[in-house]
Amino acid sequence: MPKRRNITADKRDEFRRRLLAWYAEYGRDLPWRNTDDPYHVLVSEIMLQQTQVDRVIPKYHEFLEKYPNVEQLADAPTDEVKENWKPLGYNIRPVRLQMIAREVQAEYGGTIPDTPEELQKLKGIGKYTAGAVSCFGYRKAVPLVDTNVDRVLQRVFFGKHASESTKDEKQIWELAAELVPQENAYDYNQALMDFGATVCMARKPLCLVCPMQAICAAYPISA
Ligand code: ADE
Repeated sequence: MPKRRNITADKRDEFRRRLLAWYAEYGRDLPWRNTDDPYHVLVSEIMLQQTQVDRVIPKYHEFLEKYPNVEQLADAPTDEVKENWKPLGYNIRPVRLQMIAREVQAEYGGTIPDTPEELQKLKGIGKYTAGAVSCFGYRKAVPLVDTNVDRVLQRVFFGKHASESTKDEKQIWELAAELVPQENAYDYNQALMDFGATVCMARKPLCLVCPMQAICAAYPISA
């Protein structure tokens, strides 16, 4: 693993510092960042899996008004939950979300687990969502990697351009875990999501205004 070992503690510190400074100025004020309820976080994360932020926001509020907690979602008729989800598309997500709620209700007395390990035991929760619920719902200092985060780390730390082969998933998760600060993991992970969505985008990343220019192994990526 030649390149991997070249990632110094200094570079990791610098990445965190730059990311958090950027987030303090440009981070988005999103409704699921104004809650401490892990159930709200879970609902937002399932909605965000396949739907853009702008479209999720109104639906997130509506859904939580209708199903304010795990128990009420677990007890609702599935057809009704599907119907309420419809504007977000016809798909399996509402059914899965309700299955999770039912399992949490039956097996955990209605309390969503707080560690990624325990969360991943729930059918329908993968590694990313487990990390997101643990970090955003319980403020745990755990890593999370989705396609946006993966892209950011591949570029900044491995110099990846679009056409090159991808580092394996395990390496990226290991790096993500090394990067998460013990303090402030919540802001750090939210910042990473925003940075991937609004600066380090898949196509036409905003390299010219990017705060990572000086440390990014892929800079500049030509659009
Ligand atoms: N996509 C998934 N989770 C998100 C979050 N917490 N903020 C912004 N976009 C997201």
